[in-house]
Amino acid sequence: MLRPHPAPLRTWGKLPGFRCLAEKHQTIMTSPQNPSPSDFPDTPKTWSGRFAEPVSDLVKRYTASVFFDQRMATQDIRGSLAHARMLARQGILSQSDLGDIERGMAQIADEISRGEFRWNLDDEDVHLNIEKRLTALVGDAGKRLHTGRSRNDQVATDIRLWLRDAIDRILELIAVFQHRLLEVAEAHADTPMPGFTHLQVAQPVTFGHHLLAYFEMTRRDFERFTDCRRRTNRLPLGAAALAGASYPIDRESVAAELGFDEVCRNSLDAVSDRDFAIEFCAAAALLMTHLSRLSEELILWMNPRVGFIDLADRFCTGSSIMPQKKNPDVPELVRGKTGRVNGHLIALLTLMKGQPLAYNKDNQEDKEPLFDTADTVTDTLRIYADMISGIQVKAHNMRSALAQGHATATDLADYLVKKGLPFRSAHEAVALAVRAAEERGLDLSRLSLDELRAALSKVPGAAERLDENALAAISIEGSLASRAHTGGTAPDTVRAAIQCARNSLLRKP
Ligand code: ARG
Repeated sequence: MLRPHPAPLRTWGKLPGFRCLAEKHQTIMTSPQNPSPSDFPDTPKTWSGRFAEPVSDLVKRYTASVFFDQRMATQDIRGSLAHARMLARQGILSQSDLGDIERGMAQIADEISRGEFRWNLDDEDVHLNIEKRLTALVGDAGKRLHTGRSRNDQVATDIRLWLRDAIDRILELIAVFQHRLLEVAEAHADTPMPGFTHLQVAQPVTFGHHLLAYFEMTRRDFERFTDCRRRTNRLPLGAAALAGASYPIDRESVAAELGFDEVCRNSLDAVSDRDFAIEFCAAAALLMTHLSRLSEELILWMNPRVGFIDLADRFCTGSSIMPQKKNPDVPELVRGKTGRVNGHLIALLTLMKGQPLAYNKDNQEDKEPLFDTADTVTDTLRIYADMISGIQVKAHNMRSALAQGHATATDLADYLVKKGLPFRSAHEAVALAVRAAEERGLDLSRLSLDELRAALSKVPGAAERLDENALAAISIEGSLASRAHTGGTAPDTVRAAIQCARNSLLRKP
């Protein structure tokens, strides 16, 4: 009877072909009647000579990483080929061995892409699985591939290659999201809405300006991922197990072939630290935090009591019991998945903090959090780009909300200040005017000039400074237009900021 493997399969389903590999695993590794590695006589343990007894089935499963690190198969093959070519250039490996290795690896890559590669639990991880298959295909040349190399520098190289690609995808997706965000911002560069502090109506802003705040946040996210890519893109290979290799290797040429900017400068550091992965998770946690804040706003704005926007139906779900419901599930999940990504960051920091130099098996635990972080961020950005384009803005509701919170009270104070009243006196005078408006159940901007003068009269010098122009200054349009400096909410300024943002998008690599 076959026992299903308890390891979570979720990361496998993300890549085409990997689900069926996962299914194969369940048959490969789960025969309790035959727990011994002698089940696979053609694949003896790599280090079998040193050991008197095999590990148990449970230990085998506990220590293996092939369930999840097979995601790095392409990177593993690329790294191995670059290593083999360097060995051949340096005269450490013959040309004919190199030819065999290239031929074997081409076949393995093909088998993997067609989902026909037979992953074997006994071979622990992606590296040994591929090396074993290579040896089965090409004989001794396969056994020579590991010359001057260890799985410690091999795995560190694979993760960096994998993460570099993941970062590149994420950078592209951030740019797509930003592009869509700018389109909505441009359509609403003039649309007034209440700006909030403490979630209370504060001052008028435009919806376009509000969205540009998220452009700025994601711009910094883009910078952080770009910066993290620089430190990720350094080659560990050549560090071997920890102390370097005793052959005349040429690390720089391997770095060049694999597109690394430089080589890691210390062999112990190269195989042991995963700070680049932690940085990635930190950048991801911040990006998700920004998207979580936007999600919280979308959810709030979509509440019928607020009614600022509606989300397209394809991002919402109904209720199994309440027929009237339209729930903003997607933004709620973005908010929820932010917790998951934050957790991965803490997991990696905790993984690293107690490790002495150099490599420790603890590091095998870096992959699942890293993969899941990249998957979550990638999916979230993809969905968000579409969701933000599809929002329906209810400008009328935004404007009526703005007419209820005395949002231009600061503008009235500013007006008096510009006429020479000290700011603190102006603040007090307008507070009295707000109180008068409240007593009458009106918004401040609805009071006539005479009513305003009467309300201000208790503060010496206030009422006489008020003239006709004050009414324009405390209108919504007047308030918006007055904030025309860089970073302000005036519609023309917002349009200029959008143009500037577009130019910065074009300049991105
Ligand atoms: N699967 C291992 C990992 O992910 C590969 C390196 C193992 N090295 C070792 N000496 N056990 O870290």
